[in-house]
Amino acid sequence: MAENLSLVTGASGFIASHVVQQLLERGDQVHATVRSTKNERKIKHLLDMQERWPGMLTLFEADLLIAGSFEAAMKGCSVVYHIASPFLIENKIRDGQKEVVEPALKGTQNVLDAVQKCETVRLVILTSSVAAIFGDNADVLGMKNNTLSSEYFNSSSSVTHNAYPYSKVIAEKEAWKLYESQPAPSRWKLVTINPGLVLGPSLSPLSESGSLSLLDQLLRGQLLFGVPDMWFATVDVREVATAHIQAAQNPDSHGRYILADSKTHSFVEIARILRSITQSFWMPRNKLPNALVRMLGPVFGLSQKYLRLNLGIPFNIDNRPSLDELKIVYRPLEETLADHYHSWKSTKSRSR
Ligand SMILES: NC(=O)c1ccc[n+]([C@@H]2O[C@H](COP(=O)([O-])OP(=O)(O)OC[C@H]3O[C@@H](n4cnc5c(N)ncnc54)[C@H](OP(=O)(O)O)[C@@H]3O)[C@@H](O)[C@H]2O)c1
Repeated sequence: MAENLSLVTGASGFIASHVVQQLLERGDQVHATVRSTKNERKIKHLLDMQERWPGMLTLFEADLLIAGSFEAAMKGCSVVYHIASPFLIENKIRDGQKEVVEPALKGTQNVLDAVQKCETVRLVILTSSVAAIFGDNADVLGMKNNTLSSEYFNSSSSVTHNAYPYSKVIAEKEAWKLYESQPAPSRWKLVTINPGLVLGPSLSPLSESGSLSLLDQLLRGQLLFGVPDMWFATVDVREVATAHIQAAQNPDSHGRYILADSKTHSFVEIARILRSITQSFWMPRNKLPNALVRMLGPVFGLSQKYLRLNLGIPFNIDNRPSLDELKIVYRPLEETLADHYHSWKSTKSRSR
């Protein structure tokens, strides 16, 4: 076993790409899984990393839905970063069970079944989400001091209402169950990273991450007439990647770590910051009245229940453990959005 050999699942993705890059920058060896090594456009950034760090990054094919898929890639690894899972925004999901719930749950079971069999693994870092803590923003109003805290689990989501948050909470709960089912003394530790909406520069050229597609709509001018009064817990992708690695490095890390600024940001604030960065006429200046959003909701695939429980509800976030135990320094949202925009622009100009 190599003490510094790690497995990263879903390495073609937005967050996992940064984790792979930061591990390589530290001098660690990485086994990384992708669904297909033949899709060279999708994994171009990983092929570039192989050239930049010769012999340090090995790619394997694995699918969340196929039992035993991760066993070859895990061989000899001490740390498993399980990041792969589909992230789609609510109005893009047609069949929640198939598109998000099954891959999240079966994927976690398959990866952790492989961990149970692989004697070298001592630590699993699971990429969960704040969505495993709350489903609708209104849920946070029922938490102590209206503050999102890692002591809660999302109990309001289902396959038909907030399927993606549901996929994250059932996958995370399954992981804790499998962790606790180990015979004593436990061979492997489980830590979860629970990020808010992840923004910032993308290394991966073809990620379908919901956070990238949300900003893509904004940057393409599809929301020119205004944005709904939505509030998001946000975080930079580079801090999320660092948190994964710090959680692995710190022998005292434990439990769940929320990764997000200490206050939510409104969609209109995000749009206004991007407007000043891009100087683009296409960026919305204003928020849409809630009554209008409720009227238009069905056209955009958003239910009245979803809108009632999410419009106009900011909240606070307890991110202290990420500061104290993982030593995360959150950069300003302006810097994240500027870097997000420049990366979006260069990806668009390359794909023309
Ligand atoms: N972005 C956010 O705002 C955010 C916030 C909190 C948590 N998260 C979590 O972070 C993780 C990564 O998300 P991301 O934003 O980086 O999205 P992403 O770029 O879409 O990455 C998702 C990854 O999952 C892989 N995947 C999906 N279905 C798969 C399957 N059946 N078998 C194998 N791999 C599969 C994808 O592989 P392909 O490239 O082959 O499709 C991709 O590498 C997810 O667990 C997500 O829930 C994201």
